Amino acid sequence: MKSRVFIGVVVLLLQLIDSINGQEFNQSNIYTLPSSAELKRLLREDVKRMFYHGYDSYMKYSFPMDELKPLSCKGSDTFGKYALTYIDSLDALLVMNNLTEFEKGVQWTIDNISFAKDINVSVFETNIRVLGGLLSAHMWAEKLLPAYKGGLLPLAADLGDRLLLAFDSPTGIPYGAINLERGVLKGETTVTCTAGGGTFALEFGILSRLTNNPKYAVAAKRAAKALWKYRSELDLLGNHIDIATGEWTIKESGIGTGIDSFFEYMLKAAIYFDDEEYMQMFLDSYKAILKYIRKDPWYIEVHMSKAIIIWPIYNSLQSFWPGLQTMVGELEEGFSTIKAFHSVWRRFGFIPEGYNLMSGNVQPGQRSYPLRPELAESLYYMYQTTKDPVYIKMARDLVWSLSNLTRCVSFH
Ligand SMILES: *[C@@H]1O[C@H](CO)[C@@H](O)[C@H](O)[C@H]1NC(C)=O
Ligand SMILES: *[C@@H]1O[C@H](CO)[C@@H](O)[C@H](O)[C@H]1NC(C)=O
Ligand SMILES: *[C@@H]1O[C@H](CO)[C@@H](O)[C@H](O)[C@H]1NC(C)=O
Ligand SMILES: *[C@@H]1O[C@H](CO)[C@@H](O)[C@H](O)[C@H]1NC(C)=O
Ligand SMILES: *[C@@H]1O[C@H](CO)[C@@H](O)[C@H](O)[C@H]1NC(C)=O
Repeated sequence: MKSRVFIGVVVLLLQLIDSINGQEFNQSNIYTLPSSAELKRLLREDVKRMFYHGYDSYMKYSFPMDELKPLSCKGSDTFGKYALTYIDSLDALLVMNNLTEFEKGVQWTIDNISFAKDINVSVFETNIRVLGGLLSAHMWAEKLLPAYKGGLLPLAADLGDRLLLAFDSPTGIPYGAINLERGVLKGETTVTCTAGGGTFALEFGILSRLTNNPKYAVAAKRAAKALWKYRSELDLLGNHIDIATGEWTIKESGIGTGIDSFFEYMLKAAIYFDDEEYMQMFLDSYKAILKYIRKDPWYIEVHMSKAIIIWPIYNSLQSFWPGLQTMVGELEEGFSTIKAFHSVWRRFGFIPEGYNLMSGNVQPGQRSYPLRPELAESLYYMYQTTKDPVYIKMARDLVWSLSNLTRCVSFH
């Protein structure tokens, strides 16, 4: 139950709810009609309250530490001692229309954050949360803050340079962890997951554009292409790879845990940078996934070369997939899958980390729901694309679960 993730989920939900057009309810969908204006008003209020509950509690009890522990109301530095939740929440403040607090956050970050620290961090997590947070805050600050002088960009470039050291490996696929001051440490493991090796194209690509220096985009692409080079004859990727040798150490192929965002970034980078190489890699892998991994409406995990079933499991991280399909126009496939995913949410009130499709029950040892935003993200893209209110009704179930069942109230 981390404030950072909580804020991420509610922001997506607010964006979704904010975009409801009350006139567009569709009689033919399988759910009963909500009273449009009323549902919209209630959900928006709920989500705003949830955001400020998370944000204000973090600021009161934990800032400038990375995260808030919601039961003890203590802060903790879990990621890198760089005010993770704060940096990660800057653009969320804009979604909440809070320019004052955003401006304060931008200034504080410029004055106080430095990455010259003897700290070991995850290259993947630091990229998506901190580099991503700095870049989006920078781009919005340029648009919205007349007094802004660009101070976040040098900070982002400095972090990018530190992360780049991880890419100095025999294959070009990055190490999973580095020390921010000393780079890759002696004895660091050469095994990394596919998502950890191939989820840099967006942040690194944008950093290259903004700094006019191609080195970040080049490193990200070299890593993605190396992973793709080691694909199986079926065009499937494994789950973990040795970056020194290119050998797969876990050969399960799926779209969830350990791989997920590799596909997301290939497609989004192809669209954002109009990049044909990323698009071709995405399309080839997409075809293979539909052929070997999709068991309509679910997705499973198979052996990357033999395509035999290894795990007949819906894992929570797969939930971004229907949203991604929306971006390539595969609306019907996406709809059948999100209905299935949402039915699991309805049944348990959350999605367990693993839901076994053979037993029809939670996978032993995989009961938890660490506030993952993927299902909300899919609903957001799908609603934006179709304007079908069925997605708002699904989102309502997420809002209610989170609001009623995960909130911690402080007595301190
Ligand atoms: C209503 O929803 C159904 C099923 O989701 C869809 O097939 C149909 O095209 C939608 N109609 C309109 C007018 O959006
Ligand atoms: C912005 O956020 C701060 C901190 O929660 C709050 O005090 C302030 O009222 C908010 N401003 C607006 C316009 O919502
Ligand atoms: C942040 O920077 C400002 C300006 O340099 C300074 O006054 C303040 O003490 C710093 N805060 C923290 C928590 O380091
Ligand atoms: C970073 O990792 C190295 C090697 O595992 C370890 O010796 C060192 O204490 C760690 N540093 C910090 C600040 O945790
Ligand atoms: C959760 O909250 C909503 C609105 O606050 C309420 O209508 C609903 O009945 C609550 N309970 C559950 C289990 O969702």
